[in-house]
Amino acid sequence: MHRKNIVKLAASMLTILALVAFYMVPVAMSQDDMTQVPADAFGTLERPRVAFAHDAHNEKAGIEECVVCHHGKTEDGKMDKENSSEGDPCSSCHAVKPTDGATPLMRAYHRQCITCHEAKGAGPVACGQCHAK
Ligand code: HEC
Ligand code: HEC
Ligand code: HEC
Ligand code: HEC
Repeated sequence: MHRKNIVKLAASMLTILALVAFYMVPVAMSQDDMTQVPADAFGTLERPRVAFAHDAHNEKAGIEECVVCHHGKTEDGKMDKENSSEGDPCSSCHAVKPTDGATPLMRAYHRQCITCHEAKGAGPVACGQCHAK
């Protein structure tokens, strides 16, 4: 092989390695390791962060369909209950202070978590049970 080709080959191998590394990171930090609901979008918090062990919670609660929590958005801006959006943070569609009448982020979490706990008669429903020190 010519030296030029070896350099080219090495360069493309490095690119592949970089791509693999890039895509491995989110996998390594996947929902398996989630212990709290992400709260960065709120900035300064008024309440203690909420514990949520993603996989363990869903297993215990017997929820099999991801779309139950990770709904999508239809072309006309409605909630899409068929196509899931897992991997997208809730804040990608629910702003903390929306200007377009959409459900704000805090309300999105509260409605989703509390509505189901009330319906099932299981899981925390009081402020201090979720926002526990
Ligand atoms: C009870 C509700 C619920 C169910 C059911 C659920 N998730 Fe999630 N998931 C969440 C919440 C809440 C987050 C955090 C969202 C955010 O960042 O705002 C999340 C985050 C994630 C993330 C991002 C992980 C990270 O660390 O950033 C992935 C990937 C994910 N879920 C995949 C799934 C898959 C796959 C399923 C179905 C097997 C599923 N989820 C079922 C509530 C749920
Ligand atoms: C791909 C965009 C998208 C993502 C991601 C998303 N939502 Fe939504 N959600 C919508 C749309 C669109 C609606 C309907 C309009 C509205 O109420 O804002 C909606 C509505 C809601 C509602 C109101 C439903 C009702 O009963 O009226 C809740 C609660 C909600 N979302 C919670 C969540 C939570 C919690 C997450 C993250 C786990 C999440 N959403 C992620 C798009 C999204
Ligand atoms: C579709 C239904 C459903 C949704 C949505 C849901 N939960 Fe739950 N959750 C349950 C059920 C059922 C239990 C009781 C499980 C048991 O112990 O048998 C539970 C239990 C819990 C518990 C007790 C400890 C544990 O992990 O079992 C916590 C904490 C909790 N949920 C937090 C949350 C939070 C935070 C959200 C919103 C991001 C949420 N849940 C959304 C159904 C749900
Ligand atoms: C079922 C669990 C649950 C219950 C019950 C609950 N919350 Fe939350 N709340 C959440 C989640 C999840 C978030 C988003 C993640 C976070 O802030 O840690 C949130 C966010 C918030 C935020 C915005 C973030 C911050 O700290 O400034 C406030 C304020 C808040 N909740 C207040 C309350 C109050 C007041 C009550 C009782 C009336 C309550 N919550 C009950 C789950 C719950």
